Amino acid sequence: MDIKKITVIGAGLMGSGIAYVSAWNGYEVTLVDINQEALDAGMERIRTDVMTGIDKGKISLSAAQELMGRLKSTTDMEEAVKDADLVIEAIFENMEVKKKVFGTVDKAAPEHTILATNTSSLSIDELASATERPEKFIGMHYFSPVAAMKLIEIVIGEKTSDETIEAAMKVGEKQEKVPIKAKDSPGFIVNRILMPVLREAILLYEEGVATKEEIDTAMTSKAKFPAGPFALGDFVGLDIAYNAMSTLYRELGDCFKPPETLEKLVEEGHIGTKSKQGFYNYGGKAEEPEPPKGVDADWLVTRITIPVIREAMLLVDEGIAEKDDIDQAMKLGASFPIGPFEMAEKMGMDTVKAEMEKLHEKHGECYSIPKMLQ
Ligand SMILES: NC(=O)c1ccc[n+]([C@@H]2O[C@H](COP(=O)([O-])OP(=O)(O)OC[C@H]3O[C@@H](n4cnc5c(N)ncnc54)[C@H](O)[C@@H]3O)[C@@H](O)[C@H]2O)c1
Repeated sequence: MDIKKITVIGAGLMGSGIAYVSAWNGYEVTLVDINQEALDAGMERIRTDVMTGIDKGKISLSAAQELMGRLKSTTDMEEAVKDADLVIEAIFENMEVKKKVFGTVDKAAPEHTILATNTSSLSIDELASATERPEKFIGMHYFSPVAAMKLIEIVIGEKTSDETIEAAMKVGEKQEKVPIKAKDSPGFIVNRILMPVLREAILLYEEGVATKEEIDTAMTSKAKFPAGPFALGDFVGLDIAYNAMSTLYRELGDCFKPPETLEKLVEEGHIGTKSKQGFYNYGGKAEEPEPPKGVDADWLVTRITIPVIREAMLLVDEGIAEKDDIDQAMKLGASFPIGPFEMAEKMGMDTVKAEMEKLHEKHGECYSIPKMLQ
């Protein structure tokens, strides 16, 4: 099916970004929000981005005018979806609110319209159940900032049809993204694999094995990650990390239980760089780093990498995603220097298995050996 008109619901950070990349790549776009002020602010963000594009010579003035001409905005949702080929929803992360919106959209949109959600954590199947077209329902999970991040997780529900998947993949490609398929499951690919990095790092810190600085330095200098887990957590926002981990904990059980240190920081409102205090202090008085524990950096990297490889293997075992797609998703969506399966290959499968067996023996079932490694 050929998608020409896209309606984006929610003009916040994500919705305005999705509208921008859609209009930039030739789609007719309608941006809709219940709140006029939010809609105006979203349109203003797009206008600023387009102006920056002109300044940087990425787009000519006439092309920019055409782009803005392809973009409409309204607070009337029924009107906005009545001739859409694809609706992408990016409103607040709340199941009941999203279901209500999809119920309305389902009734107002033409029969052929595909409905997509940008949810980070909610079940695609449950959202689809609010409509009478689950075969035309799909997840299109963009990453922030939308214009810069290349990945879209294309999240496939139980009833999503092949035609819908193909159409969503094509839209992603036309938006100059790399769309990667994953079956509907908690955390999809990126959050499911990223959370163990943070969790393992915090547990090692809580056990007194290493300091935050030692862990971050090992991951940046030895494993070549752009940021260590503590610095990255602070940057992303500990509230967001905590919510993501809590969803996985609720859905998948104790191996994703948010560690106490994380819970406490969030309770205290110390949620990272945006509150000037998280694992580290930003601004204000400089914090004395803890005296190093003297732990071997290579050992730390292996200790954190093994659970990451394990989680990636579980995704394959569970039929959620494919090896190469997982590697690609982690590089594009989480800035991993190499994918989990590439890490495993570099380490050698025998070593991976031996290290995992050691962890399994010492720390129990959260380190059990995935089927694909047995
Ligand atoms: N922020 C991120 O990094 C990120 C990344 C990936 C996915 N997401 C997901 O994208 C979605 C939106 O996140 P965001 O950060 O852009 O939120 P946001 O708070 O910036 O924007 C949400 C917008 O939705 C509007 N809205 C709320 N209810 C509405 C309704 N019933 N009808 C129309 N508009 C409505 C609000 O007025 C607001 O402008 C969430 O599901 C979130 O989980 C966020």
